[in-house]
Amino acid sequence: MLTIPVALDDNPYDVIVGHGARHLLGQVVGEMHSPPKKVAIITEANIVGAGWLEGLDSGCEQVILTISGGEGDKSLATIESLCRQLVTAGFSRNDMVVGVGGGIVTDIAGFVAAIYHRGIRYISVATSLLAQVDAAVGGKTAVNLAEGKNLVGAFWQPSAVLCDTEVLSTLPPREWACGRGEIAKYVLLRGQGGRDLLELDLHDQVAACVADKAMVVVSDEKEHGRRALLNYGHTLAHALETLDLERGETALDLRHGEAVAIGLLFAAHLAFDLGRIGEDRVHEHRMILGDLDLDGRLPEGLSAAELVDFMGRDKKADHDLTFILDGEAGIEVVKNLDALVVRSSLEKMGAKP
Ligand SMILES: NC(=O)c1ccc[n+]([C@@H]2O[C@H](COP(=O)([O-])OP(=O)(O)OC[C@H]3O[C@@H](n4cnc5c(N)ncnc54)[C@H](O)[C@@H]3O)[C@@H](O)[C@H]2O)c1
Repeated sequence: MLTIPVALDDNPYDVIVGHGARHLLGQVVGEMHSPPKKVAIITEANIVGAGWLEGLDSGCEQVILTISGGEGDKSLATIESLCRQLVTAGFSRNDMVVGVGGGIVTDIAGFVAAIYHRGIRYISVATSLLAQVDAAVGGKTAVNLAEGKNLVGAFWQPSAVLCDTEVLSTLPPREWACGRGEIAKYVLLRGQGGRDLLELDLHDQVAACVADKAMVVVSDEKEHGRRALLNYGHTLAHALETLDLERGETALDLRHGEAVAIGLLFAAHLAFDLGRIGEDRVHEHRMILGDLDLDGRLPEGLSAAELVDFMGRDKKADHDLTFILDGEAGIEVVKNLDALVVRSSLEKMGAKP
């Protein structure tokens, strides 16, 4: 097992990566100061179906609350329903929520923990590659509104994160690709030498991404500055996902990690069009995505004007168009972008005007 500390002053915790790490749940809960009496395991039908809850023992009285999953389920209605089930099951302030699933479950379970009785303890057991390398770590929790992704949420740090690589054996190929979308982000954020990440075996790769994220989160827990860099590729990604939310999830049929891969390539094109990077660095973005078997192609038939409109609604936009862009000084936040330049870059990637 590999242990990566997230050394926050107020809420330090460990992320444990390894084959069978989920079985450390009982030990982690048992070692807590004032252990809970009850644990609510919030999970998803696919995780139950794959058999990963069998033998999962928190050492406490346990209830299992199952959601159906998907971005449509990441809603305030789901949060209300789960909170009401906690009341019915008699959960107190000293009890605990454990999220067992991909990023959708960990975002939902974390948010329930953040607001139930104004906050109860929470542990993440991350079961998708994307959740292990990114979503389950760092304390951002949120649900979607019809108007956009992750628009309602809270910062709520877990007490521990267990990244069990054994459970990845049942992860569908498409979800592996989604996880690689976030890994591509970490490779690019590392800059020179970032490709070394691609040479690591799975455990070390997950641990390295977690360590990269932990370092950023510790330096800027509530995203007042540097943490925004973790949103590299996400401005367009969230616009694409919001489009799906508005039109129904199957409109583009894009998963988060796929949208991030597209967003990363677009960020490179936009940086190039703004004269911030050369063609060689755009090529490098393409090569890194290619190494991870991702193409980053924009789906056909999208309107550049509409996408720019969606991007303006992104949480990172402060009433303007904000992007995370590469440049001479490295990857940084760039505010007040000209909508016409962004539209033109989108059109070069194949969008309609
Ligand atoms: N909070 C954060 O910091 C943060 C960061 C990145 C992404 N996110 C969020 O994470 C979400 C995406 O997460 P995701 O890609 O894990 O999606 P997901 O939770 O929907 O999981 C992907 C799919 O894989 C299935 N699955 C998960 N683990 C499995 C396993 N071991 N075996 C079989 N099937 C399994 C799930 O049932 C689901 O169908 C998005 O909503 C995104 O906004 C949050």
